[in-house]
Amino acid sequence: ELDTIKLADGTKMPTVGLGTYLINTPELMDTSIKAAYEAGYRLFDTAQLYRNEDLLGDTLTKLGIARDQIFITSKVAEISQGYDNAIASIDDSLTRLKTPYLDLVLVHWPVHEHFFETWKALEQLKKDGKVRSIGVANFEMSHLELLKTQAEEMPVVNQVECHPYMSQKSLVQFDKENDIVTQAWSPLGHGAVLDDPMLKKMAAHHNVSVAQLVLRWHTMNGLAVVPKSANPERIKENYQLDFDLTEDEVDMINIMNRNQRTGREPELVYELGKQYKLRKH
Ligand code: A2P
Repeated sequence: ELDTIKLADGTKMPTVGLGTYLINTPELMDTSIKAAYEAGYRLFDTAQLYRNEDLLGDTLTKLGIARDQIFITSKVAEISQGYDNAIASIDDSLTRLKTPYLDLVLVHWPVHEHFFETWKALEQLKKDGKVRSIGVANFEMSHLELLKTQAEEMPVVNQVECHPYMSQKSLVQFDKENDIVTQAWSPLGHGAVLDDPMLKKMAAHHNVSVAQLVLRWHTMNGLAVVPKSANPERIKENYQLDFDLTEDEVDMINIMNRNQRTGREPELVYELGKQYKLRKH
Protein backbone atom coordinates (compact mmCIF):
# COMPACT_ATOMS: atom_id res chain seq x y z
CA GLU A 1 0.00 0.00 0.00
CA LEU A 2 1.48 3.30 -1.14
CA ASP A 3 -0.57 5.63 1.04
CA THR A 4 0.50 4.27 4.39
CA ILE A 5 3.64 2.91 5.95
CA LYS A 6 3.52 0.20 8.62
CA LEU A 7 5.14 1.04 11.94
CA ALA A 8 6.80 -1.59 14.14
CA ASP A 9 3.88 -1.41 16.59
CA GLY A 10 1.44 -2.42 13.84
CA THR A 11 0.02 1.06 13.23
CA LYS A 12 -0.44 2.29 9.68
CA MET A 13 0.89 5.82 9.31
CA PRO A 14 0.11 7.98 6.27
CA THR A 15 3.28 8.28 4.19
CA VAL A 16 2.72 11.93 3.33
CA GLY A 17 1.61 14.39 6.00
CA LEU A 18 1.24 18.14 6.24
CA GLY A 19 3.89 19.95 8.27
CA THR A 20 2.34 22.93 10.07
CA TYR A 21 5.39 24.83 11.35
CA LEU A 22 4.71 28.59 10.88
CA ILE A 23 1.05 28.01 10.05
CA ASN A 24 0.08 30.31 12.88
CA THR A 25 -3.08 32.25 12.13
CA PRO A 26 -6.64 30.87 12.17
CA GLU A 27 -7.10 31.86 8.51
CA LEU A 28 -3.91 30.14 7.34
CA MET A 29 -4.74 27.05 9.40
CA ASP A 30 -8.29 26.87 8.00
CA THR A 31 -7.28 27.18 4.35
CA SER A 32 -4.25 24.88 4.68
CA ILE A 33 -6.02 22.05 6.50
CA LYS A 34 -9.08 22.28 4.26
CA ALA A 35 -6.94 22.15 1.11
CA ALA A 36 -4.86 19.30 2.52
CA TYR A 37 -7.84 17.21 3.60
CA GLU A 38 -9.51 17.66 0.21
CA ALA A 39 -6.27 16.70 -1.54
CA GLY A 40 -6.14 13.45 0.44
CA TYR A 41 -3.83 14.23 3.38
CA ARG A 42 -4.75 12.43 6.60
CA LEU A 43 -1.66 13.19 8.71
CA PHE A 44 -1.20 16.57 10.38
CA ASP A 45 2.10 17.26 12.08
CA THR A 46 2.32 19.83 14.87
CA ALA A 47 4.47 20.38 17.98
CA GLN A 48 4.23 22.15 21.31
CA LEU A 49 7.03 24.42 20.06
CA TYR A 50 5.01 25.55 17.03
CA ARG A 51 2.42 27.15 19.33
CA ASN A 52 -0.36 26.23 16.92
CA GLU A 53 -1.89 23.11 18.49
CA ASP A 54 -4.93 25.13 19.57
CA LEU A 55 -5.38 26.50 16.03
CA LEU A 56 -5.14 23.00 14.55
CA GLY A 57 -7.64 21.71 17.12
CA ASP A 58 -10.06 24.56 16.35
CA THR A 59 -9.80 24.02 12.59
CA LEU A 60 -10.32 20.25 12.77
CA THR A 61 -13.38 20.81 14.98
CA LYS A 62 -14.73 23.49 12.65
CA LEU A 63 -14.29 21.32 9.56
CA GLY A 64 -16.07 18.46 11.34
CA ILE A 65 -13.46 15.90 10.35
CA ALA A 66 -14.04 12.61 12.19
CA ARG A 67 -11.20 11.92 14.61
CA ASP A 68 -10.69 8.35 13.41
CA GLN A 69 -10.18 9.57 9.84
CA ILE A 70 -6.99 11.42 10.67
CA PHE A 71 -3.58 10.93 12.22
CA ILE A 72 -2.28 13.68 14.52
CA THR A 73 1.38 13.97 15.51
CA SER A 74 2.74 16.29 18.18
CA LYS A 75 6.10 16.64 19.92
CA VAL A 76 7.29 17.31 23.46
CA ALA A 77 9.18 20.62 23.59
CA GLU A 78 12.64 20.89 25.13
CA ILE A 79 11.45 22.86 28.15
CA SER A 80 8.78 20.26 28.88
CA GLN A 81 11.18 17.36 29.08
CA GLY A 82 11.61 15.19 32.16
CA TYR A 83 9.07 12.59 33.33
CA ASP A 84 6.41 14.64 35.13
CA ASN A 85 6.76 17.64 32.84
CA ALA A 86 6.32 15.55 29.71
CA ILE A 87 3.20 13.84 31.05
CA ALA A 88 1.63 17.18 32.05
CA SER A 89 2.61 18.81 28.77
CA ILE A 90 0.89 16.10 26.72
CA ASP A 91 -2.27 16.55 28.80
CA ASP A 92 -2.08 20.24 27.79
CA SER A 93 -1.53 19.28 24.13
CA LEU A 94 -4.62 17.04 24.21
CA THR A 95 -6.66 19.92 25.62
CA ARG A 96 -5.41 22.36 22.97
CA LEU A 97 -5.98 19.84 20.17
CA LYS A 98 -9.40 18.94 21.62
CA THR A 99 -8.83 15.22 21.32
CA PRO A 100 -8.69 12.34 23.82
CA TYR A 101 -5.61 10.81 22.18
CA LEU A 102 -2.72 11.53 19.85
CA ASP A 103 -1.73 9.11 17.11
CA LEU A 104 1.97 9.81 17.50
CA VAL A 105 4.03 11.77 19.99
CA LEU A 106 7.73 12.42 19.49
CA VAL A 107 10.48 13.64 21.79
CA HIS A 108 11.23 16.77 19.74
CA TRP A 109 14.99 16.96 20.42
CA PRO A 110 17.42 14.82 22.37
CA VAL A 111 18.11 16.97 25.42
CA HIS A 112 21.04 16.03 27.62
CA GLU A 113 20.11 14.10 30.78
CA HIS A 114 16.40 14.57 30.18
CA PHE A 115 15.52 12.68 27.05
CA PHE A 116 15.51 9.25 28.68
CA GLU A 117 13.07 10.36 31.41
CA THR A 118 10.96 11.98 28.68
CA TRP A 119 10.99 8.71 26.78
CA LYS A 120 9.78 6.82 29.87
CA ALA A 121 6.90 9.31 30.11
CA LEU A 122 5.91 8.52 26.52
CA GLU A 123 5.98 4.78 27.31
CA GLN A 124 3.57 5.47 30.18
CA LEU A 125 1.30 7.71 28.07
CA LYS A 126 1.03 4.89 25.57
CA LYS A 127 0.03 2.44 28.32
CA ASP A 128 -2.58 4.97 29.45
CA GLY A 129 -4.06 5.14 25.95
CA LYS A 130 -3.39 8.85 25.52
CA VAL A 131 -0.91 8.18 22.75
CA ARG A 132 -1.12 5.38 20.18
CA SER A 133 2.49 5.38 18.91
CA ILE A 134 5.67 6.85 20.32
CA GLY A 135 8.80 8.05 18.61
CA VAL A 136 11.59 10.57 18.56
CA ALA A 137 12.85 13.42 16.41
CA ASN A 138 16.34 14.60 15.64
CA PHE A 139 17.88 11.62 17.41
CA GLU A 140 21.34 10.51 16.33
CA MET A 141 22.61 6.95 16.52
CA SER A 142 24.16 7.51 19.97
CA HIS A 143 20.81 8.53 21.45
CA LEU A 144 19.04 5.61 19.84
CA GLU A 145 21.76 3.23 21.07
CA LEU A 146 21.06 4.40 24.61
CA LEU A 147 17.35 3.69 24.19
CA LYS A 148 18.23 0.27 22.80
CA THR A 149 19.93 -0.74 26.00
CA GLN A 150 17.68 1.06 28.52
CA ALA A 151 14.17 1.51 27.14
CA GLU A 152 11.24 -0.83 27.50
CA GLU A 153 10.10 -0.03 23.97
CA MET A 154 11.93 1.37 20.98
CA PRO A 155 10.69 4.41 19.03
CA VAL A 156 8.76 3.47 15.89
CA VAL A 157 9.55 6.78 14.14
CA ASN A 158 12.61 9.04 13.99
CA GLN A 159 11.71 12.35 12.38
CA VAL A 160 14.85 14.11 11.15
CA GLU A 161 15.91 16.78 8.69
CA CYS A 162 16.32 14.96 5.41
CA HIS A 163 16.48 16.12 1.78
CA PRO A 164 18.84 15.66 -1.20
CA TYR A 165 21.44 18.03 0.33
CA MET A 166 21.24 16.23 3.72
CA SER A 167 20.35 12.67 2.90
CA GLN A 168 21.26 11.11 6.28
CA LYS A 169 22.42 7.88 4.66
CA SER A 170 23.87 6.13 7.72
CA LEU A 171 21.11 7.27 10.10
CA VAL A 172 18.39 6.11 7.68
CA GLN A 173 20.18 2.74 7.41
CA PHE A 174 20.47 2.51 11.21
CA ASP A 175 16.76 3.31 11.61
CA LYS A 176 15.89 0.64 9.06
CA GLU A 177 17.96 -2.01 10.87
CA ASN A 178 16.12 -1.13 14.07
CA ASP A 179 12.59 -1.16 12.64
CA ILE A 180 12.29 2.61 12.95
CA VAL A 181 10.59 4.54 10.15
CA THR A 182 12.54 7.65 9.18
CA GLN A 183 10.20 10.57 8.61
CA ALA A 184 11.73 13.56 6.83
CA TRP A 185 11.13 17.09 8.08
CA SER A 186 12.02 19.86 5.67
CA PRO A 187 11.92 17.20 2.95
CA LEU A 188 12.48 20.01 0.41
CA GLY A 189 15.40 21.47 2.37
CA HIS A 190 13.10 24.34 3.24
CA GLY A 191 13.02 25.14 -0.47
CA ALA A 192 16.82 24.99 -0.89
CA VAL A 193 16.73 22.08 -3.34
CA LEU A 194 14.04 23.52 -5.61
CA ASP A 195 16.48 25.41 -7.86
CA ASP A 196 18.95 22.58 -8.31
CA PRO A 197 19.70 22.25 -12.06
CA MET A 198 20.06 18.47 -12.03
CA LEU A 199 16.79 18.02 -10.14
CA LYS A 200 15.07 20.48 -12.49
CA LYS A 201 16.15 18.44 -15.48
CA MET A 202 15.03 15.17 -13.94
CA ALA A 203 11.67 16.67 -12.89
CA ALA A 204 11.04 18.06 -16.37
CA HIS A 205 11.72 14.61 -17.80
CA HIS A 206 8.89 13.22 -15.64
CA ASN A 207 6.68 16.24 -16.22
CA VAL A 208 6.48 16.93 -12.49
CA SER A 209 7.76 19.74 -10.24
CA VAL A 210 11.07 19.50 -8.38
CA ALA A 211 9.07 19.31 -5.14
CA GLN A 212 7.15 16.29 -6.43
CA LEU A 213 10.34 14.64 -7.68
CA VAL A 214 12.07 15.06 -4.34
CA LEU A 215 9.07 13.88 -2.31
CA ARG A 216 8.81 10.77 -4.50
CA TRP A 217 12.55 10.18 -4.06
CA HIS A 218 11.99 10.13 -0.28
CA THR A 219 9.10 7.68 -0.47
CA MET A 220 10.92 5.41 -2.93
CA ASN A 221 13.71 5.23 -0.32
CA GLY A 222 11.12 4.03 2.21
CA LEU A 223 10.81 7.32 4.10
CA ALA A 224 7.69 9.13 5.26
CA VAL A 225 7.54 12.90 4.66
CA VAL A 226 5.90 15.99 6.20
CA PRO A 227 6.34 18.79 3.65
CA LYS A 228 5.15 22.17 4.92
CA SER A 229 3.10 24.48 2.77
CA ALA A 230 0.46 27.06 3.53
CA ASN A 231 -0.43 27.45 -0.15
CA PRO A 232 -3.42 25.38 -1.36
CA GLU A 233 -1.93 24.79 -4.83
CA ARG A 234 1.41 23.61 -3.47
CA ILE A 235 -0.30 21.55 -0.76
CA LYS A 236 -2.20 19.73 -3.49
CA GLU A 237 0.88 19.36 -5.69
CA ASN A 238 2.88 17.79 -2.84
CA TYR A 239 0.32 15.01 -2.48
CA GLN A 240 0.32 14.04 -6.16
CA LEU A 241 3.14 11.53 -6.25
CA ASP A 242 1.67 8.91 -8.53
CA PHE A 243 4.78 8.28 -10.65
CA ASP A 244 7.96 6.24 -10.28
CA LEU A 245 11.65 7.03 -10.56
CA THR A 246 14.13 4.55 -11.96
CA GLU A 247 16.67 2.99 -9.61
CA ASP A 248 19.38 5.02 -11.37
CA GLU A 249 17.49 8.24 -10.78
CA VAL A 250 17.04 7.43 -7.08
CA ASP A 251 20.78 6.68 -6.86
CA MET A 252 21.67 9.93 -8.61
CA ILE A 253 19.73 11.89 -5.99
CA ASN A 254 21.15 9.73 -3.18
CA ILE A 255 24.66 10.95 -3.99
CA MET A 256 23.82 14.68 -4.00
CA ASN A 257 24.39 14.89 -0.24
CA ARG A 258 26.39 17.89 1.06
CA ASN A 259 25.63 17.51 4.78
CA GLN A 260 23.84 20.84 4.45
CA ARG A 261 21.42 21.43 7.30
CA THR A 262 18.72 24.10 7.24
CA GLY A 263 17.84 23.50 10.89
CA ARG A 264 19.63 22.97 14.17
CA GLU A 265 22.46 20.54 14.81
CA PRO A 266 21.13 17.75 17.10
CA GLU A 267 24.45 17.39 18.98
CA LEU A 268 24.42 21.11 19.77
CA VAL A 269 20.90 20.93 21.17
CA TYR A 270 21.88 17.86 23.16
CA GLU A 271 24.82 19.71 24.73
CA LEU A 272 22.81 22.91 25.31
CA GLY A 273 20.38 20.73 27.21
CA LYS A 274 22.79 20.73 30.16
CA GLN A 275 21.79 24.35 30.74
CA TYR A 276 18.06 24.06 30.07
CA LYS A 277 15.83 25.21 32.83
CA LEU A 278 12.81 22.97 32.56
CA ARG A 279 9.34 24.38 32.99
CA LYS A 280 7.65 23.02 36.07
CA HIS A 281 4.04 22.12 35.47
P1 A2P B 1 4.77 27.81 1.12
O1 A2P B 1 4.25 27.50 2.51
O2 A2P B 1 4.59 29.23 0.74
O3 A2P B 1 4.25 26.83 0.09
P2 A2P B 1 10.13 22.19 3.83
O4 A2P B 1 8.90 21.40 4.12
O5 A2P B 1 11.21 21.43 3.15
O6 A2P B 1 10.65 22.93 5.06
O7 A2P B 1 9.75 23.34 2.78
C1 A2P B 1 8.83 24.30 3.13
C2 A2P B 1 9.05 25.53 2.28
O8 A2P B 1 8.95 25.21 0.90
C3 A2P B 1 8.02 26.56 2.56
O9 A2P B 1 8.65 27.82 2.46
C4 A2P B 1 6.97 26.37 1.46
O10 A2P B 1 6.38 27.63 1.16
C5 A2P B 1 7.81 25.87 0.31
N1 A2P B 1 7.12 24.86 -0.51
C6 A2P B 1 6.39 23.80 -0.09
N2 A2P B 1 5.94 23.08 -1.12
C7 A2P B 1 6.38 23.68 -2.23
C8 A2P B 1 6.25 23.41 -3.62
N3 A2P B 1 5.56 22.37 -4.06
N4 A2P B 1 6.85 24.26 -4.50
C9 A2P B 1 7.54 25.33 -4.06
N5 A2P B 1 7.70 25.64 -2.77
C10 A2P B 1 7.14 24.82 -1.85
